[in-house]
Amino acid sequence: MAGIISFHCARCGRERASAPALTTCQCGGPLWADYDIETVRDGFRMESLAGRDQDLWRYREMLPRCEPVRLGEGFTPLLKACRAGKPLGLPNLWIKDESRNPTGTFKARGSSVAVSAARAAGVKALAIASAGNAAASLSAYAARAGLEAHCYVPDDTPRIVLEEVKAYGGRLYLVEGPLSEAGKKLRADLPEHGWFDISTFREPFRLEGKKTMGYELAEQMAGNLPDWILYPTGGGMGLMGLWKSFGEMEKLGWIDARRPRMVAVQASGCAPLVQAFEKGAKEASPWGRPDTIAVGLRVPVCAVSDLLLKILRESGGSAVAVEDGEIRRASLTLSRQEGIGASPEGAATLAALQILRERGDVRESERVVLFNTGWGGKYVDSLGPPE
Ligand SMILES: Cc1ncc(COP(=O)(O)O)c(C=O)c1O
Repeated sequence: MAGIISFHCARCGRERASAPALTTCQCGGPLWADYDIETVRDGFRMESLAGRDQDLWRYREMLPRCEPVRLGEGFTPLLKACRAGKPLGLPNLWIKDESRNPTGTFKARGSSVAVSAARAAGVKALAIASAGNAAASLSAYAARAGLEAHCYVPDDTPRIVLEEVKAYGGRLYLVEGPLSEAGKKLRADLPEHGWFDISTFREPFRLEGKKTMGYELAEQMAGNLPDWILYPTGGGMGLMGLWKSFGEMEKLGWIDARRPRMVAVQASGCAPLVQAFEKGAKEASPWGRPDTIAVGLRVPVCAVSDLLLKILRESGGSAVAVEDGEIRRASLTLSRQEGIGASPEGAATLAALQILRERGDVRESERVVLFNTGWGGKYVDSLGPPE
């Protein structure tokens, strides 16, 4: 993986030499890839991106060097949301519409980079424990790469997502209980099969794909990042990927030391991070049985809650929980006022923004970006018919 010079643990800081099929640090912390930024800095400027491919591989200097497995991931639009912003008194509201990605979610970014890196390392079979969307995405990218995908998902995952996995040739393993149970079952089965575990924070390359959302945002906002970013957070890869990109871009000279205030948005039916944030705790306690229509937020145990809470606090951000009813209303606002088909997770960010506005946390003059992480069409069964 030339380009990457080493890895370090985001929790304990221990360095690891570059090797193709890394998992986690000995301490259980997630590994972050380190690049030789000094060497690429001069040739890798925002202005030099103009003629490049319109996908996430346009940031190739800051990605693992391998033959990409591509389906058109990334380079999603940043849409000004005037009509949704008006009742909130926010003239500077944007939506980064990740629903345009292959298989309809931002998970495509992580899958593209991680499947590319795994294939380059000689891996033939991949496995994942997923709330659903990452499994569908992995199945599509594994198909494209000619690899096997073994997907462990909770048995209450929406039917459409299960059909998606099967349609792309992924092998489904339905597990009773929440995502944490699916993870336990997968780890019990792994040794027998020798699959490569690509689950959240089990390897370092999905994060590399997710971080490209930050690079795109900087490019689309000409290096002037917003005051606030609201991100629907389950396992926390999206939020952490954005944060990693900011550190790298500062070293590259693309942005200054200022950071957007980061807000983790969760559903009231599964809000371990919000609970910990509000209590001033250092890490989140496991949540019981998740209960929300926002499938991607049904994550009762977040393995990196300590690191995410640090990001939220360091950035001067927050953590906000929203009810499913608020999510449904926000979803309708986005579809009817903006023409954006938002997933419940994406719509949750608009509902959370309303709460932050009511609290007086976000000011009228501030620039806000919401991430619509998935396409609403996948959720017709759970969102129900429009009122
Ligand atoms: C549509 C959608 N949004 C948000 C998330 C949460 O992302 P993360 O696990 O990176 O926090 C997921 C995860 O499954 C998802 O499917």
